[in-house]
Amino acid sequence: MNRREFVKASLATGALVLAGDMVKGEMNLAYGTVKIPEVDKATITVITDNYYDALKRHDKIARRYGIGIKPGTDVYKLNLHAEHGLSYHIETVLSGNPHSFLFDYGVDFQGVSRNMELLNIDFRTVEALGLSHGHFDHWGAFLEILKSKKEEFRKGIPLYIGEEGFVERFGQLPAGVLSLGQLKRENVERLGFVNIVEIKDPTPIVPGAYLTGSVERVTEYEKGSPYLLIERGGKLVPDNFIGEYAVVLNLKGKGLIVLVGCAHVGIVNIVKHAQKMTGIDKVHAVMGGFHLTGAKPELIQRTVADIKAVNPDYIVPTHCTGYEAITVFEREMPGQFILNTAGTRYLFTV
Ligand SMILES: [Fe+2]
Ligand SMILES: [Fe+2]
Repeated sequence: MNRREFVKASLATGALVLAGDMVKGEMNLAYGTVKIPEVDKATITVITDNYYDALKRHDKIARRYGIGIKPGTDVYKLNLHAEHGLSYHIETVLSGNPHSFLFDYGVDFQGVSRNMELLNIDFRTVEALGLSHGHFDHWGAFLEILKSKKEEFRKGIPLYIGEEGFVERFGQLPAGVLSLGQLKRENVERLGFVNIVEIKDPTPIVPGAYLTGSVERVTEYEKGSPYLLIERGGKLVPDNFIGEYAVVLNLKGKGLIVLVGCAHVGIVNIVKHAQKMTGIDKVHAVMGGFHLTGAKPELIQRTVADIKAVNPDYIVPTHCTGYEAITVFEREMPGQFILNTAGTRYLFTV
């Protein structure tokens, strides 16, 4: 049965589950399982995001990429690409030594690779690759970027990927079920220089940065979307994102930096997981897509209230957080809120 026939059969037999209990995360970490090292400095560059503003000013720790950043450069050649996608470059510094990795890769190769060039991403120093989850807006440009920079990437560079990272995803739209694509393992293997590392548990990706592994679910209101589907046992069922993971850093004297892709498992769940995993309650920054676009106002309010209670020094909602939730974060946490724009560099120092 090909995919089209499979989806048709699922619909015909009523096997397509549109809502229901999400499978609970299986993780149950002991408090402080991970002794995460402190970093002296970290720089997170948002290579692409849903929004770009070439005139936006620097804000707190955010350094914008826009008009005036390279005096003398033709303004036509400075503009960055924005899309429904997300990509980050993360650099940590420990004892004076820098380490860097890429996390997520956006969708449009032309746009993302041009942004990487404009932002001076140095592929030769990239030590590892991470992927937050198996949705196309995070890996769409992955294979082409890797192919085009094959000579620059290190041989045997690890790609850290969670459970079901290589599985096809589906979306339930009013018009029917749509395939959201699949990152195929064999296509990554065919690159010939990437070492696939599948993880379930907290794992260091470079010195000073941890991947959470599978995230424990503790809130009762972050249930995930009934419209994002995965195939299990011949049926399309709501995706529980068992393999979705986030990045956690520990900035010396300031606390945790939590960086997420889409946060389908819930941004509050992820932050609580990062706190439990490291045994560190102080959160310095929460950044990334919180997947609240189109969410009911009650879900947005409860999420914002719980993040407010965590009291991070910075809150940077990006990507699929959505305009409505972004404005609520700004209203409720004005001193901590930063509006992200594509190309923004976040400079974390002690
Ligand atoms: Fe996603
Ligand atoms: Fe996404």
